[in-house]
Formats: sequence, structure tokens, C-alpha cells
Amino acid sequence: MLRTFTRILATAVIAVSGHMALADGHTTGTWTLNADSSKLAFGSVKKDTVGEVHSFEQISGTVGADGTTVVEIDLTSVQTNIDIRNERFGEHVFKGATTAILNTMIDMNEMAAMAVGDSEVIDVEAVLSFLGADVEIEAELFVARLSETSVMVTTNDMIFVETEDLGISAGVDKLMELAKLPGITRTTPVTLRLIFNMDEQKVEAAPAAPAPIAVALAGDADAGKKVFKKCKACHSIKDGKHGVGPSLYKVVGTAAGAIEDYKYSTKMAQSGLVWDAETLSAFLAKPRSVVKGTKMAFAGLKKADDIENVIAYIAAKSE
Ligand code: HEC
Repeated sequence: MLRTFTRILATAVIAVSGHMALADGHTTGTWTLNADSSKLAFGSVKKDTVGEVHSFEQISGTVGADGTTVVEIDLTSVQTNIDIRNERFGEHVFKGATTAILNTMIDMNEMAAMAVGDSEVIDVEAVLSFLGADVEIEAELFVARLSETSVMVTTNDMIFVETEDLGISAGVDKLMELAKLPGITRTTPVTLRLIFNMDEQKVEAAPAAPAPIAVALAGDADAGKKVFKKCKACHSIKDGKHGVGPSLYKVVGTAAGAIEDYKYSTKMAQSGLVWDAETLSAFLAKPRSVVKGTKMAFAGLKKADDIENVIAYIAAKSE
């Protein structure tokens, strides 16, 4: 019976994982089984009339970013509500084994379209390693997306498992003998409820915005005003005011291509440059050789003085 449960659980986990992984249409990292709100139970009927419910108290599971799913069922946590019976299960049905492990790969595409509040019935397959054998498992499960970060999987209808299929009939015979029972049903109903929570994403710390660098400016801002006339057709120094080119407000000391509401060329946006006196001087002397493919249609300033002065002017006007 335990084996049965294990199988079912495994299946459920698999199903869940698949769904969860693609909730937003893309891989969403890793998931962990919420043991407290999950439940794997099975029933038994002895002497034809006495029905009882049992469960495993400890199950754990994870789904990796690549879809690898591993679920572990602690066989020693079987709870039949009678201590001696728990021990007999461990000894005669599980034969001393302490864990059953379920492995599967999740089809990351299956659940891509599942929105919060959606549910569906899915067929799942997995392999359960139990008592040295690999058992293939198939089941029909009901999957519901509870929230952006949680998914619930339950049995879709009652699942019956035969002890013979699980290879534990001899163990059940032994239980009957020990408890002096005339009979224990060999078909076991199993139910499960699994809740998976999305792990907190280990977001790589965004690179800190480069601190504005101190730029030593040798130029003469007043003289630069005149040079800036060559830039005016396309640039303003007013904050947020863009023309053909972006506003040059506070451009000195910041990263190239950093203004959000201006559409730079890809080359400029990805240049990785920081505009200090050196990079700006080189750029203004020969824009297209410093940022190949820039859409700044400007040949460049020939005189080093003009360059120093216009940079000083832009910096001064940005204060
Ligand atoms: C014909 C229009 C035009 C002229 C003239 C022009 N620019 Fe530009 N400038 C642009 C465009 C367009 C961009 C955006 C380039 C890109 O995205 O590849 C730009 C980008 C820049 C940048 C980078 C801004 C940023 O946010 O990274 C600086 C600095 C700059 N120009 C300075 C100047 C200076 C100084 C002059 C005058 C000496 C000048 N430009 C002349 C059109 C012009």
C-alpha cells in the first residue's frame, strides 16, 4: 500500500512541476513542495467492514530550473494511527527501506498557458525507485494554479492500486498473519494533495549604477557656448528635452545610452561607455570611430580646444 502511495505522490509531483515551471510562459526557476499543506493518504479495509485511513507524514520534493524533479517519501513516517502497525509496515512491507525516490523530467511547455485560477486534468509519467526496483508510474491528476507562486495538485478521481502490482503482497500477507486478521483488501484507494511553492528567485544583484564620476574639466565653458552651436540642431541641454539626439543634461559622468525615453541606436545603448573627459573627447573628435554604427550624424570636432570647451559648457549648463 505504501508503495502505491509513493507512486501516486510521485506522479502528482511530476504533474505539478511541469505546470509550475512555465506559469509565465518562461522558465521560472525552482519549486519546493510545501510539506505542511501537502497530504498523501491511503485507505485499507480489514475484515470486509473496517475502513481506515493512513498517510505519510514526511514527504519532500524539489523541481530544478532545468525541469529535473526529485521527490522523496520518508517511508519511516508512515502513520497508521497504531504504533505497532507502523513498525510492522516498516519491517514487512518496506523491508527496512527508509525512502522512496521519484525522478522525472518536466515538460516545461505543458503548463505555459496556465494563469492564476486556471485548472486542468493532466496525465503524468514518472519512475519511482523503491526497494531496489524502478517502477513506471502513470496517473491522472487535477492541477490548479493557486497564485503566481503556488500550484496545487490533487488526484482527479479515486485511484486504486493493487498490492500485487507493487510487489508488496507478501508483506501484506505478513501483516494479516501478525494481526490475526481474516483479510485485508488488496486494492488500495489513494488520494493526494500536493502544494508547490516557487522558490524565491536568486536574482543576480543588478549592477549598481555607476556612481557619477568626477570629471576634471580643463575647458572654458563660455568659449564652449559658441562651439555648442554645432550641436544645437540635434541636442538640447534641458533635462528631458530630446531632439534628433538625446538631451545632454548631466551627460558628463554618466553611462552612454542611459536615457530611458530616448531611442538610441543599439550600438550606443550597448557601447558600455561612460562619458568622462577622455571618452567624450574621443567621441566628439570622431563619433563614428568611437561608437561604430552610432546614429549621430556628425563628422566630429577637429580642434582639441573646441572639444574641451564644449564639454565644460555642457557640464556647466547641467548644474
Ligand atoms: C545631426 C545631429 C547631431 C549633431 C549635430 C550632434 N549630435 Fe550628438 N547625438 C545625435 C544622436 C542621434 C545621438 C544618439 C546616437 C546613438 O544613439 O547612436 C547623439 C548622441 C550624443 C551623445 C551621447 C549621449 C548619451 O546619452 O549617451 C553625446 C555626448 C553627444 N551626442 C554629444 C554631441 C555634441 C557635443 C555635439 C556637438 C559638438 C553633437 N552631439 C552633435 C545627433 C547629433
